[in-house]
Amino acid sequence: MIQLHDKEFVPFISAQEIDFAIAKIAALVEDDFADETPVFVGVLNGAFMVVSDFMKHYKSPCEVSFIKMASYEGTTSTNDVRQLIGLDQDLTGRTVVVIEDIVDTGNTLVALKELFKKQNVKHFKIATLFFKPEAFKQEIKIDYVGIRIPNKFIVGYGLDYDGLGRNLPEVYQLKE
Ligand code: IMP
Ligand code: MG
Repeated sequence: MIQLHDKEFVPFISAQEIDFAIAKIAALVEDDFADETPVFVGVLNGAFMVVSDFMKHYKSPCEVSFIKMASYEGTTSTNDVRQLIGLDQDLTGRTVVVIEDIVDTGNTLVALKELFKKQNVKHFKIATLFFKPEAFKQEIKIDYVGIRIPNKFIVGYGLDYDGLGRNLPEVYQLKE
């Protein structure tokens, strides 16, 4: 068990299961886009570890960029998604695969879709390591999903509780 701020967390998903899920997503994306040079757009802060490991599994030509979005306060998602760092690249005609650590309510995805609508990209795909189907409130299709999890708050592997826990190599869930 670990403690972050005022809360206790218990082990939930191992580093090996995470790596397996990321390898699976990378293989699926590569099947679809190996003959193009996709731009992987990681959503900071949470997705930095996923993007790093995803890229190591992806063997074909590709580029990477990052965008920074924030909606979470403590352990709950807010409806107000803010863009903190924007795209620094012209993506006209490119294949874009957004890489998320986790999709919860889907509010961040809605904001991202709006943003990329204006970019005239060739393909817009969404990949996420974790997905909470019970919390998802949107009609958006998620193209690549690593691991479906129950509607519980998790930390580790890039995911934080008020800033802490991102450095854990495995994932923990809030103790009931
Ligand atoms: P959404 O906009 O509600 O889909 O939330 C997306 C973002 O909220 C994710 O990219 C994470 O940064 C954060 N988030 C959602 N669920 C969790 C969680 O269980 N632990 C930590 N961060 C989370
Ligand atoms: Mg995120």
